[in-house]
Amino acid sequence: MSVAAIVVAAGSGERLGAGTAKALVLLNGRPLFEWAAVAMSRHPRVDSVVVVTPRSARETIQRVLGPEVTVVAGGHTRQQSVLLGLAAADPEAEFVLVHDAARPLVPAGVISAVLDGLLAGASGVVPVLPVTDTIKRVDERGTVTATVDRSDLRAVQTPQGFRRSILDTAHAEAQELGSAGTTDDAGLLEAMGLDIMTVPGSELSFKITTPHDLLVAEALAASSDILR
Ligand code: C5P
Repeated sequence: MSVAAIVVAAGSGERLGAGTAKALVLLNGRPLFEWAAVAMSRHPRVDSVVVVTPRSARETIQRVLGPEVTVVAGGHTRQQSVLLGLAAADPEAEFVLVHDAARPLVPAGVISAVLDGLLAGASGVVPVLPVTDTIKRVDERGTVTATVDRSDLRAVQTPQGFRRSILDTAHAEAQELGSAGTTDDAGLLEAMGLDIMTVPGSELSFKITTPHDLLVAEALAASSDILR
């Protein structure tokens, strides 16, 4: 199986309030994009890595990651950034992993589980966790209108894995329709009526969005073996 990983790191990260692109924010002294890229590149079943970055940081990031990693500038939306990453990914790769740089502590076991799902024949595979909070719907005034049954809800993480030809088609169709898009890649396959397989995610793989998330990640990064 030949596998290309695309790490999307072109978001602005405004909610983190760091005054710089989120991908450049330091975790245990190393930038988030480096954690995510190394988590992918050191996995024995990942053959090549593309990192999609803010235009202004492309050269700096290429210097840090070295020539083994392809670094390209991203777009205005996550979907556009993935499309640009796909265009730069090894055309020979049969499978593609799309991973958020904002999830720097992804364990190797989650990457393996996603790849196992693809090997078993799935078109798309996503790592998930059960939802533990009670979820309520509210109206525009913030008044509760419903309590949602959480038993069949899952929080979805990355990397999401796909047969490459199918992801290419899904992105091309979304472009053609000019659809506003989804917040993940599996959503594009769902819109085509394809089944998506779920595999267990990890609490370590949480997305860094707020300053609080970064504090938690600092504590966990100290015992991670991704970057030493
Ligand atoms: O905005 P959100 O937190 O959903 O972003 C998830 C991931 O997508 C992040 O790693 C971010 O860097 C990436 N992204 C991107 N290009 C954009 C927007 C987000 O690569 N235009």
